[in-house]
Amino acid sequence: MKKVKVRLGNGYEIIVGSGLLATAGQNLREIGFSDRLVIITDSVVRGLYGDALRQRLADEGFEAAVIEVPEGEEQKSLETAGRLYDELSGLHVERLTPVLALGGGVIGDLAGFVAATYLRGLPLVQVPTTLLAQADSSIGGKVAVDQGQIKNKIGAFYQPVLTISDIDVLKTLPPRALSTGLAEVIKHAVIRDGEFFTYLEENLDKVESFDDRVLERVISRSAEIKVGVVEQDERDLGLRNVLNYGHTVGHAIETVSGFGLWHGEAVALGMLAAGRISVRLGFLGDDELARLERLVARAGLPVKMPGLGTEEIIQAMQHDKKISGGRVKFILLRSIGDVFVTDKVDPSLVREVLIEQS
Ligand SMILES: NC(=O)c1ccc[n+]([C@@H]2O[C@H](COP(=O)([O-])OP(=O)(O)OC[C@H]3O[C@@H](n4cnc5c(N)ncnc54)[C@H](O)[C@@H]3O)[C@@H](O)[C@H]2O)c1
Ligand SMILES: [Zn+2]
Repeated sequence: MKKVKVRLGNGYEIIVGSGLLATAGQNLREIGFSDRLVIITDSVVRGLYGDALRQRLADEGFEAAVIEVPEGEEQKSLETAGRLYDELSGLHVERLTPVLALGGGVIGDLAGFVAATYLRGLPLVQVPTTLLAQADSSIGGKVAVDQGQIKNKIGAFYQPVLTISDIDVLKTLPPRALSTGLAEVIKHAVIRDGEFFTYLEENLDKVESFDDRVLERVISRSAEIKVGVVEQDERDLGLRNVLNYGHTVGHAIETVSGFGLWHGEAVALGMLAAGRISVRLGFLGDDELARLERLVARAGLPVKMPGLGTEEIIQAMQHDKKISGGRVKFILLRSIGDVFVTDKVDPSLVREVLIEQS
């Protein structure tokens, strides 16, 4: 088991390891909870892990209620949040009743948003169950819902009191979900830690075969990197930008694909585009780009644009630019492990590298 200490909110720990759902009660006791709690989960995760977790906690003397929402991104809505408030009210939940967000990034964001707002803040315990959620979305305190086309903008910065990442649950993820989580893991290595990137090159097969020791290392290191960035810029006013490596072009690709590409797949293409731009501008060596491309491919992520219109992607980026206040920020590489932010990338260069990547 590994522990990552986080100096955000009131300070808390991320625990990463095997068998952690079974010992969650003990962890909750250690931070002062012993009575009632509410598990918010989705319909898939409930069947796989939610009911068993509730039973286990009940056996240990907790009065644990489960609230289920259907699976899927559409549930990250104000409407579903409204239903959850009603359910919490029906359960007579009080200020100090913890909410356990058991699921992927959708549940983490939605239950986190509800915990942040109901009674002006209930204690939140993140129990992420996808690789994306364990390595990325459960960390940093951003919680949100969507409203139509307004994605992730209605939310809060709200830190949990504990995060429990049980690596055993990753075994039931479909391979595509494991790959999309790996995209964010690779992103963390590229922005901050060249040695971790080498570790991924050497151990990727063991991630895919669910080797406990390797998964523990990969998730805890990924978490540490994100924590390190967020601790310096919790409110996303500067440094936190580096976490957007691969996302500038990636978001545009995701939109143009009509969400046919999953987020991590679009980010993989965006990371490669940013890498190519860095090579063209003379910051990064060809050999480093080739290493990045090899690792992305081995992670089961795309390295070639699946027939998407380059012009549409550029337009989508311009649209994002308008929303974000006029400048398209790129995160470029000096080497694997060392990135910088710039708003001086010509759209014609983006066009060229996207064509090169087709
Ligand atoms: N808050 C942040 O900083 C942040 C960062 C990145 C992404 N996000 C958000 O995260 C969301 C995406 O997260 P996601 O990819 O985890 O999606 P998700 O929560 O929809 O989970 C994907 C699917 O996997 C299922 N699932 C979850 N755990 C499982 C398990 N252990 N075994 C089998 N199936 C399982 C879910 O039911 C769902 O069908 C998006 O809404 C995105 O906006 C938030
Ligand atoms: Zn992302």
